[in-house]
Amino acid sequence: METYINLKEKIEEEKLEIIGKEIKNRKLVIFPTETVYGIGTNGLNPEAVKKVFAAKGRDFKNPINLLVGSIDMVKKLAKDISPLEYKLMEAFFPGPFTLILKKQDIVPNIVTGNSDTVGVRMPNNIIAQKLIEYAGVPIAAPSANISGKLSGTKSEDIFDDFENKVDYIIDGGQSDLGMESTIVKVIDGIPHILRPGSITPEQIKSIAGDVIIENKNLPSSNLKHYQINSKALLVYGKDMLKIASKIKEISLKYDFPVIITYSENSSNYKSSNIIELGSKYNLEEISKNMFNKIRQAELLNPDIIIIEGIEKNGIGLAIMNRLLNICNNNFILVK
Ligand code: TXA
Ligand code: MG
Repeated sequence: METYINLKEKIEEEKLEIIGKEIKNRKLVIFPTETVYGIGTNGLNPEAVKKVFAAKGRDFKNPINLLVGSIDMVKKLAKDISPLEYKLMEAFFPGPFTLILKKQDIVPNIVTGNSDTVGVRMPNNIIAQKLIEYAGVPIAAPSANISGKLSGTKSEDIFDDFENKVDYIIDGGQSDLGMESTIVKVIDGIPHILRPGSITPEQIKSIAGDVIIENKNLPSSNLKHYQINSKALLVYGKDMLKIASKIKEISLKYDFPVIITYSENSSNYKSSNIIELGSKYNLEEISKNMFNKIRQAELLNPDIIIIEGIEKNGIGLAIMNRLLNICNNNFILVK
């Protein structure tokens, strides 16, 4: 049985001290970060990390990032860090940014999928930061979801899947950003984005002078991601009215379609089952709500979920990456 700790309203430092020490002692803890919830333990202990793989049903080939509290901690985990890599960490730590570096021997092979690299991220969430501080070790923490499913951004979305599988669940309320970090690896002096996230290509380019967006090169790229129980379709393009008429046309073919749209556009779909992700002009709001709202749609058990896409500007790129994955690459581009 796990212990539930409610820190939604206020942080209780004594509890975080106890749980931080428990993490060092190889306990399994679900906790908030600013991106999505993580399921973590002592990242330097192979036996502990094995439990994370077991709880998630994760493929051992898929490496886990280490959450750190400082660049000094990174130096103990990684080697041959280049000036550009330091510059990127200084610009984007703490934050939704994971950097893939060459690993030191201290990092267990189970963390890195037997590769010679390690992913490091410094979370920008006080609960996560305190846990790392009190643990005194990096925390190996993938997203808190069963492998291949949607990441969890609210504790309610996580409880059922991990009941009796972890030692503690810390509830810190809804994740601020709602989308997993941008993953970057510097190759031949150029940052490559392996997974888009809330740190945008434009931001990385402004620090590094150059950036390459490369979405299909993660160790997990051939694994299933963001699978939901319903059939789902992404419809996008430039012309809002044409998109709306396409979505209406498709929805008529189904008995129980659910349409996922934005507050400005929902009036296009009167008489339908509609879920709004927020304002289409507020990408942060969309990102924050996305996984939770799609879970809500899935719970209605519809014949199809039709999702209206957005433009790939700024964090729109990362949002569309998740939506496309959720739809299993099933999309219509309306011209
Ligand atoms: O925002 C986040 O990054 C969240 C929070 C909890 O920190 N974590 C997260 O972890 O999204 P996860 O395991 O769900 O996704 C991490 C991705 C995986 O696709 C994994 O393959 C990749 O990072 N990864 C981890 N270590 C790597 C490495 N050494 N080289 C390349 N990719 C790596
Ligand atoms: Mg994940």
